[in-house]
Amino acid sequence: MAAVAAALGAPAREGVARLSLDTSLDRVILGDCLKVLSDLPDECVDLVFLDPPYYLQLPRKKLVRWGVATEVDSPEREWDRFSSFAEYDDFMTRVFAECQRLMKPSATIWVIGTYHNIYRVGALMQDLGFWILNDVTWFKTNPMPNWLGVRMTNATETLLWAVRDRRAKGYTYNAAVAKEYAKADFGSRITLNVWRLPICTGNERLRGPDGAKLHPTQKPERLLERVVRLSSARGHIVLDPMAGTGTLGAVASRLGRRFIIVEREPTYAEAAAARLGVPLVVHEPGLA
Ligand SMILES: C[S@@+](CC[C@H](N)C(=O)[O-])C[C@H]1O[C@@H](n2cnc3c(N)ncnc32)[C@H](O)[C@@H]1O
Repeated sequence: MAAVAAALGAPAREGVARLSLDTSLDRVILGDCLKVLSDLPDECVDLVFLDPPYYLQLPRKKLVRWGVATEVDSPEREWDRFSSFAEYDDFMTRVFAECQRLMKPSATIWVIGTYHNIYRVGALMQDLGFWILNDVTWFKTNPMPNWLGVRMTNATETLLWAVRDRRAKGYTYNAAVAKEYAKADFGSRITLNVWRLPICTGNERLRGPDGAKLHPTQKPERLLERVVRLSSARGHIVLDPMAGTGTLGAVASRLGRRFIIVEREPTYAEAAAARLGVPLVVHEPGLA
């Protein structure tokens, strides 16, 4: 990690026991989002982007050593492991409830997922009173092929876009921006809930000292640019509670939005702070 931080420019670090809105803005917060968000006041953000664990239920890697098969954890995806759907649903419900509390009445939330989790996530949101505005299909122009040939290649992800409750009014929707994307993707004159974009590759992809991907699910900036441009205005506060490499923050800062970025894994949080050129705040409630 030192090499990654050095390459990107090591971020300044500060530890805090309790955060306020002021001390959360425009920096990366290293901590558990449930604890971090509980410090923040009601109705303080204009936009939430949530890219949570998908609970892929990947098998643990089998490793054959000296002819003996052992099972090892892949540290790369430890954050995606839950013991059951019930545990996943409970975690996601608590995250959604906190996001809902932090959303201004005019705020919207985007949640991204795949078939692994998106149906559960949608149901949990509806149970909490969120009102879904659109489900956007991201059609990946360069998906990871299904090499085994046992089923079709999954070339899509879904983004749910919602207000915090059915009565919410005055949310930001930049229709001209939606039209621009429909025209670019399909030559269509009407807005469409399908986006055609490649996955994150090339120079945009953050890499560790060994040249391997730093994060397994780094999202492309062009995808988050659509989210930010379509549903927020300059000066708005955007929140990413599970920020990984900080893609939302990178886009938000470039587009003149303020951001609150939280990530629990030190490696990712440090890389995000270095990427954004902002301080890393270590949330340590135990200090209080
Ligand atoms: C799907 S990834 C986000 C990727 C990110 N959008 C990007 O472009 O790099 C989900 C992230 O949530 C983080 N995470 C999981 N549980 C968390 C929690 N309780 N608090 C904060 N972050 C958490 C994981 O460490 C992981 O980096």
